[in-house]
Amino acid sequence: MKTLILAGGKGTRLWPLSREMMPKQFIKFFNERSLFQKTVERALLFSKPKEIFIVTNKEYRFRVFDDLDELGVKVPEENVLLEPIGKNTLPAIYWGLKVIDENYGDSVVAVLPSDHAIEVNDNYIEAFKKAEKLAEKYLVTFGIKPTKPHTGYGYIKPGEKIEVEGKFLGYLVDEFKEKPDFETAKRYVESGYYWNSGMFMFRTSVFMEEAKKHAPEVVRAFEDGKSIEEIYELAPEISVDYGVMEKTDKAAVVPLNTYWNDLGSFDAVYEALEKDENGNAVKVRGFKAKYINVDSRNNLILTERLTATVGVEDLVIIDTGDALLVAKKGETQKVKEVYKKLKEQN
Ligand code: GDD
Ligand code: MG
Repeated sequence: MKTLILAGGKGTRLWPLSREMMPKQFIKFFNERSLFQKTVERALLFSKPKEIFIVTNKEYRFRVFDDLDELGVKVPEENVLLEPIGKNTLPAIYWGLKVIDENYGDSVVAVLPSDHAIEVNDNYIEAFKKAEKLAEKYLVTFGIKPTKPHTGYGYIKPGEKIEVEGKFLGYLVDEFKEKPDFETAKRYVESGYYWNSGMFMFRTSVFMEEAKKHAPEVVRAFEDGKSIEEIYELAPEISVDYGVMEKTDKAAVVPLNTYWNDLGSFDAVYEALEKDENGNAVKVRGFKAKYINVDSRNNLILTERLTATVGVEDLVIIDTGDALLVAKKGETQKVKEVYKKLKEQN
């Protein structure tokens, strides 16, 4: 199978770790690997380097190639598609699939976002194999069992079971609802919906057909004879979730039982990182950086300089040398407001 990696998002909720030139997917959270690099490693489970395609913003070209070089993975230069402006995930996916279709003919493609943490285990491998089969006919999503009514995700209502030769592969999707309000999300969690993981498995012909039906303006923008600048000028800004997945009647969902965390806020980052005996998740980077703890518990501390805390609990302290964030755990969704305010002032 081919893999299309989405790596053009901007991420504003992890300021000051994420910046305009350093969005979330290029931050090295775990074992000195960026989320993008970890996504490439997952792509290599099912695709050769030349079968990996990447859609990103032209601003991130060097980040992408530096990360690939560091991994020693040789993705051909022409497989890295550079968007002149971000128009969200539908134009990005449509472009990627169109290029793959033109070069390889009708193909099954795993579409991977590069902004989450996910554990690869037997369930993950199994789910991808099932999805590959289902993708012959369906637009396949991967369903994560929800733990709370989060409003930042897509929700999937599983319908009829799909079995092939007596083997359970997944469910038809009865309803796909992107980013519902809190009350609706609560109801969904109680009635057995899944979270959309953000990963997909699409066959190029099936996806392009569904896009033509439900998002013809996007398809029209990509019609021949235009430069990529003209295409992106014309293409509406819309996500694949709103543009296609909510509308299609060809969606299927494969349940995926593994650790998954979208790292959408510092609370989520805290949850994903290893904690010491005091419940502190600490990452120190830089020559003279060091962390000294006196009676502090359950904090997230990412710092690039000598940092000490005394008797504090449930704080998020992010120090990048040129910017400092101190926030209360449980409130870190609001960090995106900092980013907004900064933008207003500049
Ligand atoms: N190339 C490109 N261009 N990539 C993009 C763009 C763009 O304009 N916008 C976003 N991306 C990339 C991001 O870098 C990320 O890897 C992925 O596409 C998903 O985009 P997000 O903006 O992070 O989407 P989301 O988190 O709001 O929602 C999606 O993911 C959720 C799970 O984390 C949806 O699919 C939800 O349904 C899902 O629950
Ligand atoms: Mg996301």
